[in-house]
Amino acid sequence: MFKAPRGTRDILPQERTYWRYIEEKAAHLCQLYGYQPISTPVFEDYQLFAHAAPDGTDIIKEMYVFKDRSGQELALTAEGTAPICRAYLEHGLFNLPQPVKLYYVTSAFRYERPQAGRYRQHHQFGVEAIGDADPALDAEVIELMHRFLSSLGLSGLSLEINSIGCRQCQPAYVEALKKYYVAFKNQLCPDCKVRLARNPLRLLDCKEASCQEIIAGAPKITDYLCSECQTHFQSVQKYLTELGIACQLNHRLVRGLDYYTRTVFEAKPEGEGVQIALVGGGRYDNLIEELGGKPTPAIGFAAGIERIIITLKDQNIAIPPLPEPVVYVAYLGAEAKLETIKLVSRLRHEGIAAIQAIGDKSLKGQLRQANSLGVKYTVIIGEREVENKTAVLRDMASGEQKNISLSEIARLIKKR
Ligand code: HAM
Repeated sequence: MFKAPRGTRDILPQERTYWRYIEEKAAHLCQLYGYQPISTPVFEDYQLFAHAAPDGTDIIKEMYVFKDRSGQELALTAEGTAPICRAYLEHGLFNLPQPVKLYYVTSAFRYERPQAGRYRQHHQFGVEAIGDADPALDAEVIELMHRFLSSLGLSGLSLEINSIGCRQCQPAYVEALKKYYVAFKNQLCPDCKVRLARNPLRLLDCKEASCQEIIAGAPKITDYLCSECQTHFQSVQKYLTELGIACQLNHRLVRGLDYYTRTVFEAKPEGEGVQIALVGGGRYDNLIEELGGKPTPAIGFAAGIERIIITLKDQNIAIPPLPEPVVYVAYLGAEAKLETIKLVSRLRHEGIAAIQAIGDKSLKGQLRQANSLGVKYTVIIGEREVENKTAVLRDMASGEQKNISLSEIARLIKKR
């Protein structure tokens, strides 16, 4: 028997109700905030992601990379931001009034060790606002994220924010951090030893208990921000306060991808234990330039749909069910079957969701199926009904049955 590959999941119809709920809320809010939908391919040139996340970062190590038959090196989409920036450049979206505001729902593939809320294929709802450094845009994006989570009915989430500076001020901080860490070199966990050499900012993000005390004493990046970054961050915080959005400043917050600058933020469920982020985002003011465009500031976030569903379930949030079919049409005999086929087609044409009895189930078996589908009405056509051009209409809630002309069924159901 085949099974879905490790770290991937089938999404069965029951689970799909959550997806529909989330995607509808996302699309509605994006429309309110002026974000337009965009989709990009499921695989891209490997170098696109390599630009966004240099060697040594987790995401590069986790990438699904392959060569196609022409020998081109491709990678399955690992995250949504780099492809959107590629599309922004490729289609000249920089010629439009800026910022260009886009949203997407995408699959993302990362070869991670699967565990609860961590998959090898996951899905993200993300937004990207490209083309302006105004802190008001940071506040807008964070407000959109906040409203998205609360519109789903989620509560008890913590929203953390930090600024990790820019090309001018970040290097001095990284130097200070390295200098501080050198003294603890022998006490570091194996991952942090690598981080110290390759990606020092990520030292702050280590979850190992043995590294926590070291992190607590590390210099704070906000003490190293240049005056522009400082002013920018102060404005972002001021706007968020004015909007009534409570953010906790977390000096340790750095992000897993390398393209971030200035504002970074994450939303997590509150509480003890290992916390996994539901949403993560921030500014990436250099990425478009690194991909070959003009200097173009930008900001966005992505929410992990599977993790949001886990949290919706944890918080017992009721999701509106998918609409059920209205009518089930059962039959007895070959001639009745022909009438059934025509009637179901007519009902659907009239916009009534109808299910046709398929196969050679007994009438009892057909009615059992009608019951399990939760239809409001069952229509039964037997030999006598074929002769009279009628059917039996059964109201499933009350059990009431009546004989009705075939041509009247659609009108009656619609009326009710
Ligand atoms: P990210 O933090 O790598 O950011 O991923 C965004 C969200 O995707 C996470 O907060 C989490 O909910 C979900 N996620 C990540 N990895 C997994 C996984 N293995 N299994 C399940 N869910 C996962 C980005 O991808 C950036 N592109 C976000 C962004 C947009 N920044 C600016 N614009």
